[in-house]
Order: sequence, then structure tokens, then C-alpha cells
Amino acid sequence: MKAFIENLPKAELHLHIEGSFEPALMFKIANRNKIDIPYKSVEEIEKAYKFNCLQDFLDIYYQGASVLITAQDFYDLTYSYLQKCATQNVRHTEIMFDPQTHTERGIEFKTVINGISKACEDAKENLGVTSLLIMSYLRHLSEEEAFKTLAQSIPFKDKITAVGLDSSEKGNPPSKFKNVYEASIKEGYIPVAHAGEEGNADYVWEALNLLKIKRIDHGNNALQDEKLIEEIKKRDLALTVCPLSNTALQVVTDLKDHPLKKMMNLGLKVTINSDDPAYFGGQVNQNFIEIQKALNLTKADIYELVKNSFQYSFLDDKTKQIYLTELENYYKLNN
Ligand code: ADE
Ligand code: ZN
Repeated sequence: MKAFIENLPKAELHLHIEGSFEPALMFKIANRNKIDIPYKSVEEIEKAYKFNCLQDFLDIYYQGASVLITAQDFYDLTYSYLQKCATQNVRHTEIMFDPQTHTERGIEFKTVINGISKACEDAKENLGVTSLLIMSYLRHLSEEEAFKTLAQSIPFKDKITAVGLDSSEKGNPPSKFKNVYEASIKEGYIPVAHAGEEGNADYVWEALNLLKIKRIDHGNNALQDEKLIEEIKKRDLALTVCPLSNTALQVVTDLKDHPLKKMMNLGLKVTINSDDPAYFGGQVNQNFIEIQKALNLTKADIYELVKNSFQYSFLDDKTKQIYLTELENYYKLNN
């Protein structure tokens, strides 16, 4: 089963590039920029990565991201993640980045986007991994700040496919960002949002009805509301589920209690993703391996999840079909 999972061609649809920042690279970039970080060793970092909730994690995540200064730093961060994609048979990835985490510290928007997008171009050329970018607004900041970010993004519109919403969910409902989502959609960005990770089903309703999202990041708490489940199915929206993130942030106590299989049985379209792999103990393949074991998933279940990852990506239909055919051929030979 492990080899079956590892060799499957797959897509990742929920990944924060700042959350892919491995300790070794963090040390290297911090040194290069002569920035002190509050850890002396990888062991100290690993000890600090124990979280009781989303906010615990976010505090450490923003601190880690603060050593990123130059376009080269953003390039190295992104290319390093894309190399991991190549070794895991991730053919396509949809990468979230948080411009405000950096512009708030005085880093220019163009520095961030140029470094990240150059790495994506090189990875397509050198590694055969395709990618697209999701610009995520930080929901603990104001809508006015999000509007500033939207304006900064316009000269780079051709490099960005979608907008997302992340950071501290509770107390920052989707309704806070209704206007900036409307404006983002007018600019041609596809709307997605984190919803129902720590927030309740009402947050998911708002993301659907006010932000008009085309995909739900996490969505675990949608299961609290039967009508909502039906609405998600009616709108044919996929949920980008992140098992190891859910246990690391105590959204789910134990992987054995994870609602993934329940979601699938309800007819929801689900994908498996790593969220912030450097912080939560595993890349996307590790997420598949651990959730398969915990829930006793079959090869057919895994195939369904991976098929969804291409089907519910924002790729054009022709490229989707190429990946889906490759996947189907692999499954026929290995089932
Ligand atoms: N930013 C990075 N990872 C996140 C998560 N899992 N939830 C909300 N915001 C995030
Ligand atoms: Zn996330």
C-alpha cells in the first residue's frame, strides 16, 4: 500500500508555501540575512512545534516566515517544496502564499511574487511539476488591508489564479471579507477560503453564500449541518482536507477519529493535502499513508481521493484530462 500511494501521480490543492519552510532551510536563510531566530538547533525547533490550537501554530509560523527577505529567499523556499513534489509524484500543486505576512514587515509585494513565481516556472521546466498560485488574505487583519493587497497584486495578475482566506478563523468570519472577495472575483481571481477548520458550520455557509467560494479549505465542521452538506454537494465543491494538520492543531484528537471516510460516504468530494508540512509532521504522501492506516482505506478509496485532486484543481480541462489518464493507467496496472 505504501508504494502504491508513493507512486501514484497526484495533485496537492492545499499548501501554504510559508508552512513548507523546513528548519534546515530556515537556519540557512536566517544566517544569510543575519537574522537571529530563537532556536539553536533543529531539535529545539521540533520541541517548539507542539500546538494546542491554530493560534499557537500561527504565532510560530509568522515568526519563521520573518527571515524571508529577498526574492532569492522566496525562490529557495518555493523550489525546495517543488523538489519534494517531484520526489512524491505530485504532478501539480496549487500553492497558497500570504503576501501580508511579508508586506507588513516592509517586504515589497513584487519581491514575494517574483521569487515564488520564478521557482514555479523553473520547476515546470526542470522537474515537470505544474503549479498555480493562490493569494491568501490574512483574516486577522482588516478588509481594508486586504483591499491594499488586492491592489498590489494587479500588476502581477497573470501569475495568480485564485484568492484565499487564512489565519485565525474564530472571530474573523467570512462576512468580514465580502467586499474584497467581490472585487477579487471582478479581477478574475477564483475564490476559495479556509472555513470550518475551527469555526462552525455558519462560517462555511458564509463562505459559500457571501464569498462565493469554488473550493472549501478544510471544511471539517460542515458535518455539523445536514443542509450544508447537501448544499456543498449541490454546488459540487471539493473539500481540501489536511489530516496531519488536523491532529497537530487538535481539530481532531486522533487520526482514527478523523471524519474523512464519513465525508466520502456522505458523497462529498474530498482531497488529501499537507497544509503546512514542515510544521505538522509530513508531506502529502505521509498524510495519505497515515490516514490510510488509521481509517483502513482501500486502494479504491485512495484512487477516489487522488482523482478528486485533479478533478477539482483549477487546471484547464485539457491538462486535467492528461493527468487523469495517467492516473487511470497507473491504477489499472497497480490495483
Ligand atoms: N495559515 C497557514 N496554515 C493555516 C491553517 N491551517 N489555517 C489557517 N491559516 C493558516
Ligand atoms: Zn491551510
